[in-house]
Amino acid sequence: MAKVVVRVKSGSYPVITGSGIFERLGKAIRYYLGGERLCLVTDSGVEKYYLKMVQEMLEKEGYQVFPFVIAEGEGSKSLATVNSVYDFLILKRMDRASSLLALGGGVVGDLTGFVAATYLRGVAYAQVPTSLVAQVDASLGGKTGVNHKLGKNLIGAFYHPKVVYTDVQLLTTLPRRDFLSGLAEVVKYGAIWDEELFAFLEGNLPQILAYDKSALLRIVNSCCAIKAEIVKQDEREAGLRAVLNFGHTLGHALETMTGYQEYKHGEATSMGMGFAAQLSQTCGLLSSDEVKRLKTLLTRIGLSVELPDLPRKDYVRLLERDKKSRAGMVDFILIGPLGKATIHPLSITEIFAGWKG
Ligand code: GLY
Repeated sequence: MAKVVVRVKSGSYPVITGSGIFERLGKAIRYYLGGERLCLVTDSGVEKYYLKMVQEMLEKEGYQVFPFVIAEGEGSKSLATVNSVYDFLILKRMDRASSLLALGGGVVGDLTGFVAATYLRGVAYAQVPTSLVAQVDASLGGKTGVNHKLGKNLIGAFYHPKVVYTDVQLLTTLPRRDFLSGLAEVVKYGAIWDEELFAFLEGNLPQILAYDKSALLRIVNSCCAIKAEIVKQDEREAGLRAVLNFGHTLGHALETMTGYQEYKHGEATSMGMGFAAQLSQTCGLLSSDEVKRLKTLLTRIGLSVELPDLPRKDYVRLLERDKKSRAGMVDFILIGPLGKATIHPLSITEIFAGWKG
């Protein structure tokens, strides 16, 4: 079992990671979250594997558990779903001493965190991430929120959990496509921060793809440690934290344009990273060999590195509306050398100058 501590202004909290540590989940939640009444939020995909087991573990620890199951998929990450959770919490008379537990991937975690941030002006919550994207990124750092039809994650709040409890063994029940998509986020950490992690991925991909426990722990622990360091330095994304958005500017645009239905988050991020790497080379930051290394690794995972050939004006419209866009300039994340990222205000024309689409 390993522990990374996320240090933020409002306090510190642990990210506990391990393989086969799920049986001790109940005790960890009791210790870090406290309280007596708990709303357990999960989705229809995770429910069949873990809901009953987790509910029983929590009840054994003395909790009165109220499960709430949302439909699986990005479509649930909406204010409509948030409202339905509020209704449930009010009907169950959940008070300020009650808490929430997010058992699921990024959608469940972001949504539950947002409900926790806003219900009765804030109740405690815990993250138990079951997807790779959530284990390495979404569950820690306090970004919570939902999508709006005009853009991804446009509604939200910074609100940190009391604990993140991560068991990599849960990844074996994750649909393969989600697992591969999650690896895009791991590649991102290597590309923006840690060349050694990047090289580890290159050298150990077969083991990772075969769910080797120690390889999975190595990558999850590295990503959590990197993210904890970045969040410690820049909790509210005044600067540095934006490097975590490498590949996300165009990735988010693509997800929005396709109604969050066609591409998994990591798949869109992979295409965004391919684009951003190419742009990094155009800007003289990244060598052609490094662009090739990034694209080869993502391709070996089975991810695409080229943006689909959708109308340029649609990408432009979304970029103009991006949270990171100001007066026609977008804070774009470029990398170079591999393992180092920087933020560059670029005009939309500069961004698309070399794009064939
Ligand atoms: N997922 C990017 C961030 O937490 O800042």
